[in-house]
Amino acid sequence: MKKLNIGLFGFGTVGKGLHDVITRIDNPNVSIRRVCVRDITKKRDADLPFTDNPDEIFNDPEINLIVELIDDAEAAYSIVKRALESRLPAVSGNKKMLAYHIEEMIDLQEKTGTPLLYDASACGSIPVIRNLEEYYDNDLLISVKGILNGSSNFILSKIFNEHMGYAEALKLAQDLGFAESNPTLDIDGWDSVFKLVILTIHAFGTYVAPENIFTYGISTMTDAEIRFANQHDRRIKLVAHVEKMPDGKVTLSVMPHLISRNKYIYSVEDEFNGVVIKGLFYYKQFMFGQGAGGHPTGSAVLSDITASGYDYRYEYKKRHESEIPEFTNDRLFRVYYRYSDSNYEYLVPFRSISEKYSSKDFSYIIGEVNLKDLLPLQEQLRKPECFIAAYPND
Ligand code: HSE
Repeated sequence: MKKLNIGLFGFGTVGKGLHDVITRIDNPNVSIRRVCVRDITKKRDADLPFTDNPDEIFNDPEINLIVELIDDAEAAYSIVKRALESRLPAVSGNKKMLAYHIEEMIDLQEKTGTPLLYDASACGSIPVIRNLEEYYDNDLLISVKGILNGSSNFILSKIFNEHMGYAEALKLAQDLGFAESNPTLDIDGWDSVFKLVILTIHAFGTYVAPENIFTYGISTMTDAEIRFANQHDRRIKLVAHVEKMPDGKVTLSVMPHLISRNKYIYSVEDEFNGVVIKGLFYYKQFMFGQGAGGHPTGSAVLSDITASGYDYRYEYKKRHESEIPEFTNDRLFRVYYRYSDSNYEYLVPFRSISEKYSSKDFSYIIGEVNLKDLLPLQEQLRKPECFIAAYPND
C-alpha cells in the first residue's frame, strides 16, 4: 500500500470519527496532514493542523489524497471536482453531491484517470457499493431494497419499541450524531433517495435524478398508523427500493412500508441499516450493519482511504453494458392511505380499493395506486392531514 498524506475537508461527526479511527488503528501509511474547516476559530479537541483556506491543501505537494466530509453539497462538489481535475485521488462521503453529480464525476474520473471512492456515502459501515460493483456484476440482479437511513430507523424503533414521542426520539438521534444537520433530509426520505441513486448506478448502471423518484418519509405519521401496524403485526420502516421489472425497466421509490414479521428488515432496529439484494438464481441476500454515527462511518471512510492506497477504483461495469435499463415510474403498489380531513379523501387516485375505514378522527383506504400518479402529489402528501405507506401483500 502506498503512503497516504490526507488533505481533509470537514471536521464534523464523520471527520472526527475518521480521526479517532485513524488514531486507534495507527496505520503508518495513513496520516491526516491538514484539515480545512469553515470556522477556524471553533475550539476542536484534536491535535491537527487546521486551516480555513482550501489552497493550503491543494497547494501542498505532500498531500496525495483528498478526503471530503463536509455537509454542504455544492462546496463538496467544488472540492471533489478540483481534486480530480488536479489529478488528486479523492474520497467523498457526500451523498447529496453524488446523487446530483455522479454522472459528471464518472466522466471526470475517466477523463483524468483519477479515482473517486465513496462507499461511506451509502449505508455507513456496510460495504454495499463495493459489493454491487465487484460481486453482482452480471445481469441477474433483480432488486436492492432496504433501510438506508439510520436516523429515521432509530426514531421508528424508539416509537414502536419504547413508545417514545416523535420529537424526543428525533432529539436523541441528533444528540447521538446520526441525524443530518437538517433532519428533514432524514425523516422525509431525501437522505435515503440520495443513497438509492448511488446504489442504483452500481446495481444496474442507470442514473435517475432524485426529483424523478417518489420520495416520502415519516414526518406525518401518527398514532393511527402505529396502531394499524401493531394490529396487523407489522412495523413501519422507511424503505428505499430499486427493482428491475419483467419488462427490463427499473423502478425506484422511497416510502414507508408496513413490513411483516417474516421480512429481514422487520428486525433492523435503531441506527442500523439493512439491505436485501435479490437475484434470479439465489433468491435473497441480506447485508446488515451500522448506517450512521461517527465511528462506523469514519471506519467506512478509512476503508475507502486504504482501498485508494491499493489503487482500487470503481469500474462502473454496468454502465458499459450495451443496454442500461430504462427507468419507469409505471408501477402499481398496494398502499395504506390515512387522512384526517375529508378534503384529502380523493387526493390519491386509487386504481382499485380493497378496504375503507372511517371514524370521527381519521379514515383510511387500502388499495392500489400507480407510482407515476403519486409522484406529482409528493408535496401535498407531506401535510399532517395525511400519510401514505406501501402495504405489501406478504
Ligand atoms: N443522517 C444519516 C443517517 C447519516 O441517519 O443515516 C448517515 O448517512
